[in-house]
Amino acid sequence: MFLLGSARCGGNTETLAQLAAAELPPGFKQRWLRLDDLPLEQFRDIRHEGTGTYPPAAGNELVLQEATFEATDIVFVSPIYWYSVSASTKAYMDVWTGWMRTPGVEFKARMRGKTLWAVTTFSDEDPKFVEPFVGTLRYCAEYLGMRWAGVLVGNSSAPGDVLRDTAALTQARTFFTTTQ
Ligand SMILES: Cc1cc2nc3c(=O)[nH]c(=O)nc-3n(C[C@H](O)[C@H](O)[C@H](O)COP(=O)(O)O)c2cc1C
Repeated sequence: MFLLGSARCGGNTETLAQLAAAELPPGFKQRWLRLDDLPLEQFRDIRHEGTGTYPPAAGNELVLQEATFEATDIVFVSPIYWYSVSASTKAYMDVWTGWMRTPGVEFKARMRGKTLWAVTTFSDEDPKFVEPFVGTLRYCAEYLGMRWAGVLVGNSSAPGDVLRDTAALTQARTFFTTTQ
């Protein structure tokens, strides 16, 4: 499952992810979801209220939950926003906290063993500014017992810029096929 988290369509991160995914074997099942097409309710922290449980997911949240459980691999396709994941990506991650506390969902057990990947782009020059993004996702993977497969990084600002990042384009050709 590819989760598109940019706040614009046709951005660099999406382009880079598409180039990388084009190298997957023919017939390899891919599901692409644009998080902005599936807006979530404002997440509420009710962990310490009443029973401390969350109601079953509904609407867009249920679409994302079912897609999440069906996927063997989750690919965050998120630009770097303020040194971290985009807001829509973060909102999706926050609902995991509710799913962990929804009776009958068994979220952690169902996430264990899945593989987490990321594709990102950023406009800065120093690669150190990608570190918080990578740390966020790697630690989430560790917490949930998922395999962290790493990140494909491109450099860009305006749409199309990433096509000039030859190092990223080269990495994209083997990212999904050799990291596995
Ligand atoms: C809200 C916002 C925050 C951003 N924060 C950063 C940042 O912290 N570091 C950085 O290098 N670039 C930052 N950028 C630039 C984007 O990461 C860059 O333009 C990226 O290529 C956008 O991805 P997209 O083309 O897939 O939408 C930010 C852009 C936006 C819109």
